[in-house]
Amino acid sequence: MLFLCLKGMSKKSFISIIVLIFSSVIVLSTPPEDPIKCSSSQNTTCTITNSYGMFPDRTICQASQALYPTSEQELISMVAFASKIKTKIKVTTRYSHSIPKLVCLDDSKGLLISTKYLNKVVKIDVDEKTITIESGVTLKELINEASKNGLVLPYTPYWYGLTIGGLMGTGAHGSTLWNKGSSVHDYVVEIRIVRPSNSEDGYAKVEILNEQNNEDFNAAKVSLGVLGVISQVTLKLEPVFKRSITYLAKSDSDLGEQVLNFGHEHEFADITWYPSQRKAIYRVDDRVPISTSGNGLYEFIPFRPTPSLALAVIRTTEDLDESTRDADAKCGLAKLTTNTLIASAYGLTNNGIIFTGYPVIGFHNRLQSSGSCLDSLQDLKITACAWDSRIKGEFFHQTTFRVSLTLVKNFIEDIQKLVQLEPKALCGIEQYNGILMRYVTASSAYLGNQDEALDFDFTYYRSKDPMTPRLYEDIIEEIEQIGIFKYGGLPHWGKNRNLAFEGVSKKYKNVGKFLKVKEKYDSQGLFSSTWTDQMLGLKEGVTILKNGCALEGLCICSQDSHCNPSKGYFCKPGKVYKEARVCSHV
Ligand SMILES: Cc1cc2nc3c(=O)[nH]c(=O)nc-3n(C[C@H](O)[C@H](O)[C@H](O)COP(=O)(O)OP(=O)(O)OC[C@H]3O[C@@H](n4cnc5c(N)ncnc54)[C@H](O)[C@@H]3O)c2cc1C
Ligand SMILES: *[C@@H]1O[C@H](CO)[C@@H](O)[C@H](O)[C@H]1NC(C)=O
Repeated sequence: MLFLCLKGMSKKSFISIIVLIFSSVIVLSTPPEDPIKCSSSQNTTCTITNSYGMFPDRTICQASQALYPTSEQELISMVAFASKIKTKIKVTTRYSHSIPKLVCLDDSKGLLISTKYLNKVVKIDVDEKTITIESGVTLKELINEASKNGLVLPYTPYWYGLTIGGLMGTGAHGSTLWNKGSSVHDYVVEIRIVRPSNSEDGYAKVEILNEQNNEDFNAAKVSLGVLGVISQVTLKLEPVFKRSITYLAKSDSDLGEQVLNFGHEHEFADITWYPSQRKAIYRVDDRVPISTSGNGLYEFIPFRPTPSLALAVIRTTEDLDESTRDADAKCGLAKLTTNTLIASAYGLTNNGIIFTGYPVIGFHNRLQSSGSCLDSLQDLKITACAWDSRIKGEFFHQTTFRVSLTLVKNFIEDIQKLVQLEPKALCGIEQYNGILMRYVTASSAYLGNQDEALDFDFTYYRSKDPMTPRLYEDIIEEIEQIGIFKYGGLPHWGKNRNLAFEGVSKKYKNVGKFLKVKEKYDSQGLFSSTWTDQMLGLKEGVTILKNGCALEGLCICSQDSHCNPSKGYFCKPGKVYKEARVCSHV
């Protein structure tokens, strides 16, 4: 119907309508699909996927059975059972939000242990300002429960659909250079983890980890799920406080100069960069006295329920612009999306209903994270999360890595050189709200951040067809290789395409200590897979060589067949970083 009544309109006004629908507040949404699907009521013969419905290499992952413990006691008996019969195990979560195949077993014989029903708050200690939760509790529940007691976790990811076990598993973070930095695991004071053991221990054992057993604790804070199942986590909180947020639009000409000071000046600073538009949006975001008036709310627009129809139209337009190589159309749409987001303050409101102007002041627990597309009243297919794989919607790659603050100016300038050479090349990234830049600091976790750094988030078109190249494929690939190889960027464990993890373990000075704890906790590697072994440098083969592999980030091209010569894409050196090898349209 929408198609019919929009016939005859100019493409631009047509798209504005779509963007308008996009930004409206719709409360009915279809909740995400369960990532685990089994073929019997006993939950046997299962498949597992992620929230995007696709892993980087498109494998379909299998398991013999999915188990759903509801208490630590049940969890212990399940781990004991698996350990006794030497079966491989993977811990999975309610939504499975990680992109790499961390939750995959090597074959169909292993077990999945889901934390879906390990979702209870165990204890809140208001005097100590701590909360103890089971590992399947989502960030949303954590924020809500803590705030009911006047407490908050100061720095968290911006999306609240993650579980505490999962976000620790991959070292997830928000943005700050202040205090202990922006990673949630650096605010964890105790972890209870269930691991396999010998027959004397009944084949499973609970370890209680805190500052007293430093080595094990530092390993378990970011574990990729290979040490065992985290049962409970205790976090240090703070009394609730208020923040004041202003988004400031500026030219990006001095961005490289600005990033360092900006991160030190504002506690919750982040930057959204639109390189083709030569624009950066600085998030000026600080604590204010609790008496300051304001009850602002942040409901990030891309995380709201989005009408399926709008998603389908946008995706169809994107597919069309890609196949006709219409860079101008992409740039036009990117600008429109950006302007709409800026005009609607990205989903900030001064009172929970409307945005009347900056600054937006409100309680921290209402401003840090959002994700209303997860909530639903009924199972309607009218709206959903934009990336829901059951509808025709967003389908993308995400490249996310952190570059040390000492190198970040050079990295930004390299991107700017590429934009100078190809001004339209990054419009595709701007269609997914540009490059999100967030601050992180050094962590005591062995697989956590190594130093103060700026994390870059790039989201871009992925075709449903693995052999179909992207417009300006080469420029995005070059940026990925510049960040990860020229500047030694650390890839986010829960995002990225395979090539980002090439040699990753060597970037962690304490990876040896991590592996020692892994050996001690799970000497048989029941919680490990080929993929986690590859990530940890124990096995070769993070990248996969085959026709078209570079298009999907499964490899760095070394010959033309890794691109797609039949579509005019050949393997060429980079334009700014000559060592890069990228699929270029000739
Ligand atoms: C829309 C969206 C927004 C995001 N925003 C951010 C952001 O702002 N910042 C950021 O850093 N990241 C962000 N991410 C990425 C996200 O942080 C990671 O992918 C995160 O790991 C996913 O958590 P999950 O609960 O879905 O865990 P999963 O992806 O299911 O699991 C992740 C890993 O943890 C392991 N694991 C899970 N639970 C346990 C447990 N109880 N014990 C032991 N191991 C366990 C799993 O085996 C797996 O290895 C975002 C992702 C999405 C989809
Ligand atoms: C099977 O899985 C569902 C979740 O999808 C769960 O609610 C149910 O308890 C499981 N059944 C058994 C027998 O474990």
